[in-house]
Amino acid sequence: MAKGLDVGTMNILSSSPDGDGTKFVQQRNSFVEIEYSDMAEQMLSRSEVLHIRKDDKVYVVGDDALNFANIFNKETRRPMQRGILSSEEASAIPMIKLITEQVVGEPSTDGENLFFSSPADPIDSELSTLYHQKTLESMLSDMGYDPEPINEGMAVIYSELADHNFTGLGVSFGAGMTNVCLAYYAVPVMKFSIARGGDWIDQQASQATGTPVDKVTSIKEDDFALDFQTDVGGVEGALSIYYENLLDYVVEKLSAEVDEEDVEEDLDVPVVVTGGTSSPDGFEELFERHLEDVQIPFSISDVRSVDDPLYSVARGALVAARSEEESDGAAAAASAPEPEED
Ligand SMILES: Nc1ncnc2c1ncn2[C@@H]1O[C@H](COP(=O)(O)OP(=O)(O)OP(=O)(O)O)[C@@H](O)[C@H]1O
Ligand SMILES: [Mg+2]
Repeated sequence: MAKGLDVGTMNILSSSPDGDGTKFVQQRNSFVEIEYSDMAEQMLSRSEVLHIRKDDKVYVVGDDALNFANIFNKETRRPMQRGILSSEEASAIPMIKLITEQVVGEPSTDGENLFFSSPADPIDSELSTLYHQKTLESMLSDMGYDPEPINEGMAVIYSELADHNFTGLGVSFGAGMTNVCLAYYAVPVMKFSIARGGDWIDQQASQATGTPVDKVTSIKEDDFALDFQTDVGGVEGALSIYYENLLDYVVEKLSAEVDEEDVEEDLDVPVVVTGGTSSPDGFEELFERHLEDVQIPFSISDVRSVDDPLYSVARGALVAARSEEESDGAAAAASAPEPEED
């Protein structure tokens, strides 16, 4: 068996084979701190709510954090920021460990293969992804897995471009980052990230309209569409403006990076857009329009969106883990001595 894991700024998801399909387990990568009381402890222990007690505090973790935050009028906190472990959150590592353990479960065999997503270094900030990646790797090893990082953009290509020889441009529009990878026959030719995503849109729209950021996120996730019929002056209007701004920024960086990397010019490849931030209706068309505005030396055959953008990276990580497992198996079979005939 093998597993995939997508460790995202907002969502952590695992993927494992389930008959002919894939089973996903998801939790929100967030938590809330509440004061300890015997009553609270008893209630929580009897429920399915994921929580941990530390001194005189109780932390409610994952999907339930948001409900508890609303009830207790607290803000949720996040172990990750802009794609990597947050340096401003002292409890980041124990919290992400708890969520990951719940999502991925125990290995089915000791040293089970597990591919986990890791972002590429951002081109627009000084942040490095190394500490984040190494910390996750040792956490997963301690849990009994044999972990291997897979670039987030490459996971998109494994997930969505199998019908195209794993050739094309994969873009994951997440919460903390936008990850981009160009691959040619499953070999990454160019990969980078941009330290902006859905969180950035929410913060900007919140500042512009004076609306709390959690409220902006809810409005955006509920039924916001990029149809530009929306209200001038309202939250949806501001969301549209910052969506446009994010896409301008992404295609500008893409064009600059392709130039710098000297990507071969006679390519003709599809582009896949995925990640939670690509969910609103009209996103794919908007991205396509923005792409037409910049110079890219190779040609783009089509822009595709996916049905379930939150699952792409986890699914791709599983595809990679399984193909590694198969090639390990094949190598072991090839080097094993021939069984003797009698
Ligand atoms: N229906 C929706 N409409 C608009 N935005 C959405 C929707 N659903 C989720 N999002 C946004 O998508 C983002 C989360 O997407 P995703 O799970 O792909 O990110 P992540 O993998 O956690 O983050 P990252 O890859 O940047 O570390 C959040 O900004 C969230 O608000
Ligand atoms: Mg992601």
